[in-house]
Amino acid sequence: MIPNEEINLIRNKANIVDVISSYINLEPKGKNYFGVCPFHDDHNPSLSVSPEKQIYTCFVCGVSGNVFSFVKDYENITFPEAVKLVGIKIGHNVDYKISENKMNHEYYEIMNLANKYYLNNLKSKEGLFAKEYLNKRKIFDETINEFNIGVSFNDNNLSKLLINKKYTEKQIIEIGLANKSDNLYDVFRNRIMFPINNEKGDIVAFSGRIYNNEDTNKYINSKESIIFKKSNILYNYDKAKSEAKKSKEIFIVEGFLDVIRMYTIGVKNVVATMGTALTKEHALLLKKLNVKIILLMDNDEAGEKSTLSAGEELLKYDINVAVVRISGEKDPDDYIIKNGENKFKEVIKNPISFFDYKLLYFKKNKDLNKSKDLASYINAIIDELNNVNDDILKEVTINNLNKEFGVDKNLLYSKLIKKEVKLKEYKIVKKPLKLNKNKKISETLIYMMLKDVKYIRKYEKDLGYIPDKEYGQIANDILAFYKINKDFNIADFISFETNNEYYETVLRIINNYEYNEPIYDEFDDYILFIYKWIKEEQINTLLKELKTESDINKKQEINDLIIKLKRECENND
Ligand code: GTP
Ligand code: MN
Repeated sequence: MIPNEEINLIRNKANIVDVISSYINLEPKGKNYFGVCPFHDDHNPSLSVSPEKQIYTCFVCGVSGNVFSFVKDYENITFPEAVKLVGIKIGHNVDYKISENKMNHEYYEIMNLANKYYLNNLKSKEGLFAKEYLNKRKIFDETINEFNIGVSFNDNNLSKLLINKKYTEKQIIEIGLANKSDNLYDVFRNRIMFPINNEKGDIVAFSGRIYNNEDTNKYINSKESIIFKKSNILYNYDKAKSEAKKSKEIFIVEGFLDVIRMYTIGVKNVVATMGTALTKEHALLLKKLNVKIILLMDNDEAGEKSTLSAGEELLKYDINVAVVRISGEKDPDDYIIKNGENKFKEVIKNPISFFDYKLLYFKKNKDLNKSKDLASYINAIIDELNNVNDDILKEVTINNLNKEFGVDKNLLYSKLIKKEVKLKEYKIVKKPLKLNKNKKISETLIYMMLKDVKYIRKYEKDLGYIPDKEYGQIANDILAFYKINKDFNIADFISFETNNEYYETVLRIINNYEYNEPIYDEFDDYILFIYKWIKEEQINTLLKELKTESDINKKQEINDLIIKLKRECENND
């Protein structure tokens, strides 16, 4: 546990605008800063960050919170981990050990053992053939060590070794290193072994490549497990991220060997997917870097298509995307081997924008001297322009079309959809909750307390209780926080409530009322309303007692009390 004082100290020192800016772009507007919300699929600046309150809120998906909840949700880590990370950002070291789940810890141990075993194999006499294969591909010791490349043989020795180390069959199978028919057998056989790391650098999987011309799948990957999900792993991300932050860009290639080759010639800001399409999780992982992404796919039709689909996926998250296409050779690895590193480095220095890449792509297989092809080309461009928010780009593109093909500018402009129309398409994913009157009033009252300590004092003096488990607890938490700290601020209160079962409700109330200010003058009316609600609850309890009570005198007493309470309720109206 990190002490509350320390949590608040860090929260106070860390400016939420600076921290969120290190993840997404924020633009000042009025009192607040705005950016594209990373917690839902959007292109529009719906996330508002308040330097004054040190909280953020999104008016589309309804998230809100303080600097820690942002980092926690963005990095997909726990609250104490987020506190620790924000601490690092402001130069405050938090003494907190991040404890890995014990089960997972053993899986990581197994993967490390397996990797050591494969590395040893490659160093052994039997590994010579694999080593020759790697050397033939110009992969030498330095690179082999850097990427921990090993080799598996055609036997079951890894399974045996792991069993001897007291790991269970179940664990070894679950992690994808062995399978079982009659006996346990190794999954990876006769393959060059590439360990796959997660973003922290732990080995979570292996990919094995054939090296002796066997007629079988070129690569096999570990099956998915608790610690390995293909859709959120990028090969070499752990090493590439710091390089990417330095150079402000990162390359995405298709093959592991492309990554390894580029890394070897000093282009270290490079990652590859696990032979799958780029997913939302990949996009979010890359977005974290806040750098330009350069797609560098293979020189074939599949590479063209994956450039297009990966680019579109990244654009969804408002990521700056550019494209490099190589020609002559199949992939970056072959290109570097054939043309040398200098020529390759020249080529990757001049990426084109993803938009320009699409224009080139639309031209493909079209004869622009034919009216029909030209019309479909221009229409495709107009469709694209309708998806971008950049007026200058629109202007430039239309000018170019006018110059190149003599199409009337006004006609082209008339095809552009006006922004206001587009705005209507933004879907609000935040579903308005239907609350009954009691709940609505409780939430408004709580919000006023969150906004101004005056109302916390009034709550304590005039009410002190809300007859609802959830709202009652939240209101009392606010009061408790105020008493402990002798003051109140919403950003620290969010940290205070992190482990509360009603945390989500607290955040929802904050978010709701950021966009609908309550009428503060009505506070006293709400107090009266809740008095009445309390009395109604008392009447209900008394009515239940009345049913089970057998003593005539007691029954009469209860009845009188009910009548009294009912009268009070009526007077309140
Ligand atoms: P080399 O052929 O050794 O140069 O490897 P490469 O990395 O250039 O491979 P390639 O371009 O053929 O494929 C790109 C990526 O797709 C590989 O790095 C793998 O991640 C994946 N891949 C290719 N072949 C297979 C396969 O047979 N099975 C699986 N699961 N993935 C594959
Ligand atoms: Mn290749």
